[in-house]
Amino acid sequence: MGSSKKSWEKRLVGECDPMTVDFVESLSYDKRLYKYDIVGSIAHAQMLAEQKLITRAELKAIKDGLIEISQEIAEGRFKFDKTYEDIHMAIEAALVAKIGEAGKKLHTGRSRNDQVAADIRLWMRDEIGVLRAKITGLQKAFVKLAGKYVKDVMPAYTHLQRAQPIVIASYLLSFVEQLERDFIRLKNCKELLNISPLGSGAVAGSTLPLDRKSTAKQLGFSDISYSSIDAVSDRDFCAEFIFDCALIATHLSRLAEDWIIYSSDEFGFVRIDDSYCTSSSMMPQKRNPDVLELIRGKTAGVYGSLVAMLTILKAQPTGYNRDLQEDKIHIFSAADTVKASLDMVQAIVSHAKFDTRKISAGLEEGFLDATSLAEYLVGKGVAFREAHGIVGALVTHCEKVNKKLADLSLDEFKKHSSLIESDVYGYLGAKNVVNKYVTEGSAGPRQAKEQVAYWASELGQR
Ligand code: ARG
Repeated sequence: MGSSKKSWEKRLVGECDPMTVDFVESLSYDKRLYKYDIVGSIAHAQMLAEQKLITRAELKAIKDGLIEISQEIAEGRFKFDKTYEDIHMAIEAALVAKIGEAGKKLHTGRSRNDQVAADIRLWMRDEIGVLRAKITGLQKAFVKLAGKYVKDVMPAYTHLQRAQPIVIASYLLSFVEQLERDFIRLKNCKELLNISPLGSGAVAGSTLPLDRKSTAKQLGFSDISYSSIDAVSDRDFCAEFIFDCALIATHLSRLAEDWIIYSSDEFGFVRIDDSYCTSSSMMPQKRNPDVLELIRGKTAGVYGSLVAMLTILKAQPTGYNRDLQEDKIHIFSAADTVKASLDMVQAIVSHAKFDTRKISAGLEEGFLDATSLAEYLVGKGVAFREAHGIVGALVTHCEKVNKKLADLSLDEFKKHSSLIESDVYGYLGAKNVVNKYVTEGSAGPRQAKEQVAYWASELGQR
């Protein structure tokens, strides 16, 4: 490493061990912050000029130089040299090489500690926008698919045992709700992180008359931080961001799990398009849902990032510590994984088909209408706990005589409750049951139709 590359090398005797250079560098991954670093530097320089800490001519030279560097990086012409450690030093060194003395004034009243904190916040603001757009895209795909299956009935499961009948649309819309919370959570995360740490310096602020509100305003931050000590080491927003990513990954993983099961021959509920399946190197007949399995598997990595981020923070003494450099590895990784998974799930959902014939064929298995029958009895004035017992006994009887509830004669019913009349048959059979759902948010065709319309209009405005 050249001995005149960094100003602080005057403080250290001899050259850095190349192993140290490799170990401390973050340029290999923080270079993706370059745009934000440059925007932040331009705002800082602008403020320095406003405060007469640099001249107008120096400001112009700095701005022009930074814009050129930005173009060089964008076009792949910039030479990244890891001896500069990180993107902040790499850009500053390139600026000094380009414009000379004025470049050396850019870092006035600034530390990489407040600089990197600002860069990450700027990056995350944009990244949240990208993630939210992808969430909306996936929600739209679910709603579109739901629109095709508003009347088609499937079993709902609890404990993975057949529970009650629902329409397929309602099942699909349950994911739209989960994603909506993710969408809102990211918005909240963005609001909380949108604070400018610039001007906090290394840890204690500055003796120079920096105008922190000016840089904050230029960069679209809604406020400035009010503790320089906290501001240089606050990465709460990183942990929160990764948590939000982890919960998106959780939701995608649960869908993946469902569809891996639903696409098996045993279920045959859903057909994943061939474009999103792979085959086996040995078994020629195989059509495997590997993409879904990987979405489920990659969730582990996102959780890992969350644990890593929290662990990075847990034992840091007050003030900036270099541990924080590792934050970027985990926010980038979590964001990249979740973005890729959202794209894949959107593609899979957009091309998925439910096999309604196969689903219908098995629909009357498992007494999905038992709860409906109990509620029918409640309607006749029977206490629910008692109705529960009557229907339990009827189910046992059905199993003995190998019948469905709907196949029982009125006489058989009457043996268990004299209150049962011929109108009972309207409450039996999966299709009848879904039409009887009246509670808001139920999984019947009426509610599903309303919800599809609601979401189509709501998401259409995003
Ligand atoms: N690369 C560092 C990071 O990502 C920048 C700040 C380094 N500050 C320092 N004093 N060494 O956190």
